[in-house]
Amino acid sequence: MSTKMERPLNPVPDEICISIRRDTDIVLACQKGRALAAEFNLSGNDQVVVVIAISEVARNILLYAGRGEIILTPVQQNHKQGIMVVARDNGPGMADIELVLQDGYSTGGGLGLGLSGAKRLMDEFEIMSKVGRGTTIIMKKWGSKLNV
Ligand SMILES: Nc1ncnc2c1ncn2[C@@H]1O[C@H](COP(=O)(O)OP(=O)(O)OP(=O)(O)O)[C@@H](O)[C@H]1O
Ligand SMILES: [Mg+2]
Repeated sequence: MSTKMERPLNPVPDEICISIRRDTDIVLACQKGRALAAEFNLSGNDQVVVVIAISEVARNILLYAGRGEIILTPVQQNHKQGIMVVARDNGPGMADIELVLQDGYSTGGGLGLGLSGAKRLMDEFEIMSKVGRGTTIIMKKWGSKLNV
């Protein structure tokens, strides 16, 4: 038996990673998100939901962290398939996650509806953040059950 650490060349074949550094990257992440959602049979409405959620977290990356990335992955669980969106940055982080999820809370002069809206629209939504270290947001939207 080999003692070397063996890793597959491409551990997650369907994963799409979009680096977020400027406005046009947000558009690209939204387009890729919509295409992946369509490919994995999410309804037209749900494709729009995925686009809105990506746009909000990607805009936050630019505004509050300066740069980061969006990772899009198809997911499957209990005969349903869907899309996972991960937004990741090494920016300032958040001191109080409950606070940033309140409607109307903004430190950037915005409406303070981006995160709370994305949470409402998506089926699963989780924020992990550490002050001075960065923020990771994981969101999922599930489509209809697969016929199996
Ligand atoms: N990636 C991030 N890193 C650090 N702080 C963040 C990040 N994303 C959001 N925040 C904080 O959470 C707050 C709420 O974010 P949210 O997107 O809900 O509202 P907003 O960006 O202020 O306004 P808008 O309604 O235009 O999105 C922000 O004002 C900011 O303080
Ligand atoms: Mg925002």
